[in-house]
Amino acid sequence: MKRIAVLTSGGDAPGMNAAIRAVVRVAADKGWDAFGIREGYAGLIAGSFIPLRRRDVGGILQKGGTVLGSARCTEFHTEEGQRKAVRRLNEQDISSLVVIGGNGSQTGAYGLSKLGVEVVGIASTIDNDLAGSEITIGVDTALNIALEAIDRLKVTASSHHRGCLVEVMGRNCGYLALMAGIAGGAETVVIPEIETTPEKVAAEFSDAYERGKPHALAVIAEGARYGAQALATYFKEHDAQIGFDVRVTTLGHVQRGGTPTAFDRLLASRLGAGAVAALDCGKHGVLVGTIRGAITTTPYAEVVGIQKPIDPELFALANVLSR
Ligand code: F6P
Repeated sequence: MKRIAVLTSGGDAPGMNAAIRAVVRVAADKGWDAFGIREGYAGLIAGSFIPLRRRDVGGILQKGGTVLGSARCTEFHTEEGQRKAVRRLNEQDISSLVVIGGNGSQTGAYGLSKLGVEVVGIASTIDNDLAGSEITIGVDTALNIALEAIDRLKVTASSHHRGCLVEVMGRNCGYLALMAGIAGGAETVVIPEIETTPEKVAAEFSDAYERGKPHALAVIAEGARYGAQALATYFKEHDAQIGFDVRVTTLGHVQRGGTPTAFDRLLASRLGAGAVAALDCGKHGVLVGTIRGAITTTPYAEVVGIQKPIDPELFALANVLSR
């Protein structure tokens, strides 16, 4: 009988639990034994396995975070750490591993697959920065949380005729900022992929002021060259030219802790099932994601180390809609 294990790694993303549940239940449906690994790769190296049967994953579908726990494990970045991990899997007679996580986690999974482990990844990160999947688990929930905060900030900003600098997550990727900017009606969006300057952001704000807008909003990705704090410092020094008094709000980890939306639960359920289906037909060394809505597998060689681009048309749309 096939024995598979599943772990969650890197930043938790709402919907990870739905993916764990799907992996376990679809595996059980095939008569396989499934195991969970606690605390990501750190738990794998430590040999922290727990059997997971159908009932063990009941009641987790609607929960944010990950019931297995997650970690950022520096030891796993080394070949020695990865060899330890292979040994732990062999000790348990586990042939296949499902890795639910983002860029760093899938890079680690690729390393394991090069050492001969049958690994399948599930695209899961609120950053949506994984090549090989148009959308990743957790993005929709994080975006909705950011949007709710932005809507509220606009209410108070309008009352005081203020400018809002809202920083959202996104280490190397501006997807969340761009989408929150469009959906939240931002005057400007600042993302790592497209260089801007404090002068340009200030110009957008003063333009909004001169056109009589009651507030101005910038949505800034945390990975952008000029973060919200740097922009605020610049604004402070150039107050008179901007018109608005500005306030900074950093949403940070609040965005990761939400109850998964219907979209994320469905996506995670489909990707979890897709991972088991891939293993069942002998596919591994691949990331399971979605392309044009369909469940797909993409070889790790075409995923790891590849920068996922921002859609330039969406960036242009954000600018047009802000006028
Ligand atoms: O998981 C992705 C992410 O949320 C990034 O957007 C952010 O930069 C990072 O994780 C934060 O990591 P940590 O939770 O380790 O502080």
